[in-house]
Amino acid sequence: MFDAWPCLKAYRWMILSFLGTLLLGANAFAQANPTLSIDLGAPKAESSPMLYGLMTEEINYSYDGGLYAELVRNRTFKDGRRNSTAHWFPYERGGAQASMKVDTSTGPSAALPLSVAVTIANATKANPAGISNEGYWGIAVRPHTVYRGSFYAKASSPEMGPVTVALINNDSAQGPHATVSALTTEWKRYEFTLTSGDAPISSDNRLVLSLGKPGTVWFSLVSLFPPTYHNRKNGNRIDIMEKLAAMRPEFLRFPGGNYLEGSSIDQRFQWKKTIGPLVDRPTHMSPWGYRSSDGLGLLEFLEWCEDLKMQPLLAVYAGYSLNHQHVDPGPALEPYVNDALEEIEYVTGSTSTKWGAERAKDGHPAPFKLTYVEVGNEDEFDRSGSYDGRFAQFYNAIKAKYPDLQVIATAPVKTVQPDVIDEHFYRSAAEFFADSGHYDSADRHGPKIFVGEWATREGSPTPNFDSALGDAAWMTGLERNSDIVIMASYAPLFVNVNPGGMQWESDLMGYNALSIYGSPSYYAQVMFSNHRGDQILNAKLDGPADKFFYSVTRDSKNGRVYLKLVNATSDPRPLTIRLDGGKSISGSGRLIQLSARTTAATNSILEPTKIVPVDSTLKNVSARFSHTIPPYCIQVLELETH
Ligand code: AHR
Repeated sequence: MFDAWPCLKAYRWMILSFLGTLLLGANAFAQANPTLSIDLGAPKAESSPMLYGLMTEEINYSYDGGLYAELVRNRTFKDGRRNSTAHWFPYERGGAQASMKVDTSTGPSAALPLSVAVTIANATKANPAGISNEGYWGIAVRPHTVYRGSFYAKASSPEMGPVTVALINNDSAQGPHATVSALTTEWKRYEFTLTSGDAPISSDNRLVLSLGKPGTVWFSLVSLFPPTYHNRKNGNRIDIMEKLAAMRPEFLRFPGGNYLEGSSIDQRFQWKKTIGPLVDRPTHMSPWGYRSSDGLGLLEFLEWCEDLKMQPLLAVYAGYSLNHQHVDPGPALEPYVNDALEEIEYVTGSTSTKWGAERAKDGHPAPFKLTYVEVGNEDEFDRSGSYDGRFAQFYNAIKAKYPDLQVIATAPVKTVQPDVIDEHFYRSAAEFFADSGHYDSADRHGPKIFVGEWATREGSPTPNFDSALGDAAWMTGLERNSDIVIMASYAPLFVNVNPGGMQWESDLMGYNALSIYGSPSYYAQVMFSNHRGDQILNAKLDGPADKFFYSVTRDSKNGRVYLKLVNATSDPRPLTIRLDGGKSISGSGRLIQLSARTTAATNSILEPTKIVPVDSTLKNVSARFSHTIPPYCIQVLELETH
């Protein structure tokens, strides 16, 4: 039998609001509600044009197995801390026989001094043997798509013949293939192209390299790319970049996070080992328990910025690693300071400088615009107390060579005053509700604030709707104070949702080999960041504010006012909105709304769009109008005023 009560309960606020309007008359009803008064006169302050950006690091398979479009996993035969053939398997068709093992006696370069030796005991043209790679939880194949690949190889004899490369579907054993010319006994790089034709869309594929004659063949740096964003050669996944572009981020903080620091000093992010040809990148162990291919290295971070029109916010290693090892300020720290200066030169220097020329050699002669450099990450964890001295040494050296750069500290310091302080907040929704006014009375004369990492951590692998409410409440506070809070970035951004893909719960967006989805928190970010304005307006609520949050900004170019309203309760929130001091107010506006029935509601890889913003027209807007925010709801009201 149809049970009407849940339905009535869900819509009770609408019914009550309708009855209230009927009984009291629109004006009387408006009178009874709390009033949000907005001053359209002089703005309270200018808001930061850089407020919303991205923070990124190699965590949760963010780059390898994520944004970085490489499809081959363990392409250099070093997995985790070991040399290994993990994710590779012998391939034997019919009666063919092959075995494989890591060979540390030969490799294509000094950075990659090892390879896989594939010994083929038995193979024919009809029944070849070789190796196959399973990719990052599968390899995605889409119809009518061109895949470009390459590998380094040498053979025990030139007679071993050509290598056949194929993308084989695990069910049908079919797939596109190509033949690569016969090998020689010296290391050489080979390229190939695979075109998928009518192949069905699937992630259940593997890459096979096979030969039709017995002998030994060595492979290294086996690589395969699908089409990438902006067709970059060593580029990024298109779907993930499009999701990021929709956030309209202003900056990218990289390369971490803990990934910058490394578990120990020798495992820090060493930028010089992440530039140039891939064959010259040795790869390194990330602090999140897996090896980074470093295919997404310093230049690729910068090109990612270029593609999304973001400014790089460069974090430089500052002599402290996660195992609490630190480098004392003074002469011991000097090489690290110089390394950071050279890194800045690589990013910003003209081609007449040593490192600017190196960048040009790597394919990017034009320098990048850089405003902010961050010294370290979360240095309050350095219990030796060395950060004050380390920061001062970096700050003085950076300012001496680059006086226009703004230098960010990651913990309070005394010796020199940083331009900006980076503060991190990982919290529950309740904590953000209670502290959304965190910066309302912050000191306006000290350093500016960068909220370099923050998130409501409820929901796994990606946050649920309670998190989105906590995030939105927090963001209203950031916006109200964006004269002093000049930048903010949620963290972490990404998670590969396959088993074993996650090291940190509650990540903004999730993906597998084939698709990506945004969490409710992602959509809250998109809504806030796409309706920013450049002025903060004074606004005051007269009435109870139980789990109700707001911020008001205006775009001075066109008079458009953006109201962000957050109702984190299970009851509707009727309001009277008063717009004071405006010359004219258009009777209709736009309403963008993100809501859910429960705080546990969420999106997932199987239900990617359960909770998404809904756009509608807002009618009957005037200098004083009634507006009800549904339960569990985040709204942006876009009003045209002059
Ligand atoms: O975002 C995950 C981690 O949290 C970052 O690597 C680190 O800076 C913070 O502690």
